[in-house]
Amino acid sequence: LPLSMSARIDDDADDDMAQYASARTRISYGDREGDTVEGGRSPRREERRMGLVDGIALTVGLQIGSGIFSSPGVVTLNTGSIGASLVVWLVSGILAWTGASSFAELGAAIPLNGGAQAYLNYSFGPLSAYLFAWTAIVALKPGSGAIIAIIFAEYVARVIYHTTSSSAAHPHEQGLDQIPPWSIKLIAVIIVVLISTVHAFSSRLATRGQVATTAVKLLALVAVPVLAIVVAARGKMPDASKHAFSSIPNLFEGSSRSPSNYALALYSGLWAYDGWDQSTIVAGEIKNVTKNLPRVIHSSLSIVLCIFLLTVTSYFVVLAPQLVAQTNTVALDFGSAIAGTVGGVVFACLVAFSCLGALNGQFYTSARFVFTAGKEGYLPKMFGRTNARTKTPVAATALQAALVIVFILFGSGFASLVNFYGVCSWSGYLFTVLGLLVLRIKEPHLERPYQTWITTPILFSAVALFLLFMPIFSAPLEALAAAAFILAGVPMYFLTQRRVLAPLFARRAQRDTIPQHKEVLDEAAYDEE
Ligand code: ARG
Repeated sequence: LPLSMSARIDDDADDDMAQYASARTRISYGDREGDTVEGGRSPRREERRMGLVDGIALTVGLQIGSGIFSSPGVVTLNTGSIGASLVVWLVSGILAWTGASSFAELGAAIPLNGGAQAYLNYSFGPLSAYLFAWTAIVALKPGSGAIIAIIFAEYVARVIYHTTSSSAAHPHEQGLDQIPPWSIKLIAVIIVVLISTVHAFSSRLATRGQVATTAVKLLALVAVPVLAIVVAARGKMPDASKHAFSSIPNLFEGSSRSPSNYALALYSGLWAYDGWDQSTIVAGEIKNVTKNLPRVIHSSLSIVLCIFLLTVTSYFVVLAPQLVAQTNTVALDFGSAIAGTVGGVVFACLVAFSCLGALNGQFYTSARFVFTAGKEGYLPKMFGRTNARTKTPVAATALQAALVIVFILFGSGFASLVNFYGVCSWSGYLFTVLGLLVLRIKEPHLERPYQTWITTPILFSAVALFLLFMPIFSAPLEALAAAAFILAGVPMYFLTQRRVLAPLFARRAQRDTIPQHKEVLDEAAYDEE
């Protein structure tokens, strides 16, 4: 009887989620022959090994990547003043937080692996989940992975080629023109291969690495405001900053009045905060997920919001706003302003290290995202398998690495893809959060261990709509390309669902139904008799 394969039910009453999860896994997969329950969408208790700290390290470490060290320039350029740019950083953080709180509600109610993939399936059915998975796997994840890997490589190359002191005369080039482009791509590819190899060998090493890199990053970022205070105390602030910080109206002098400038600034700010949804992808691996997932999300977002605001303020204390507006390596300028060449090198290493941690986190969640798609029947079933010995999703990790490398080698001018990336990712976020609203109406009795204020998803959806509509006017071609790309998933979906392909897939894509916890637990008890 396939049911006998189902997970052993622990009778420790302290962690009934584990029982719920086991039962859930059995219901989803136990009835299909040759399917192991191991590493399912909602893994067994012994596979739930992520605690609160691991979850926070994953989220914070993924959010703090390249953005906080490069986006302040674009934000300042578009907003035109210190005050307005700080407001944009605050608003982006709050916006990310509203999105994350909405995802926390969904994640606690539907505690499956896959994040938005699972929530979309539950609210709107498998086609919507497939379209999201398609877009995320083919474009979003490899794209963002490649961006972070390239930025990592650029900073490592700067250290190797000694071009860390940015020249005031050519702030846009920042010494990159002296570095052969192939060497940057080579370094990026090497780091991708290294990280994927580690991930293929050990999940534990990957999560440990995440905790370690995030801890170092946090310490370094706490040092930034301390350095800025030292500079201010010595009275070495640039004249412009002294002037601006002396009174509130001065802070807003020169602010832009054009909404499209603010949309651009917001996109850059949001890139820096992006990654707030990533813990939901591995919800199935988090211990006591219904309680811990909301905790992970709220702790991470508050930590990152405080750190980002302090860091950006510190940049403005030490550097003149005109300089911040012109540079895309603000951290290097900050370092050089404080300690000359040594400062530049130290900050270049910090940025590279930060990207390394973000890349590690991103690889962890992306591989599990691909893995879930393999389980769900969106991708061939080989991607939904774990290696028997290492218990890691090797095929999913390899696919992810291969796609990132393709983007590194053949993608150029990522900046021009910003709108494409924005439209794709924000339509995913928007529909997922709309799903929350639909479920509140359609399924008022769904058990929601965590419930966010109803204003949160509404606010998030409103701003997401604004962000989606702006590029339709400012960059219609890219918006169209993004829409076309997402819709190209429709024929792909029907193709994968054809009967001839069935042997390749774990199952037909189907709608999830989450039985209420109680029923599942009852059933689990029945199973044990
Ligand atoms: N916030 C990160 C950074 O500044 C980017 C996160 C990319 N997004 C993601 N879902 N992995 O580099």
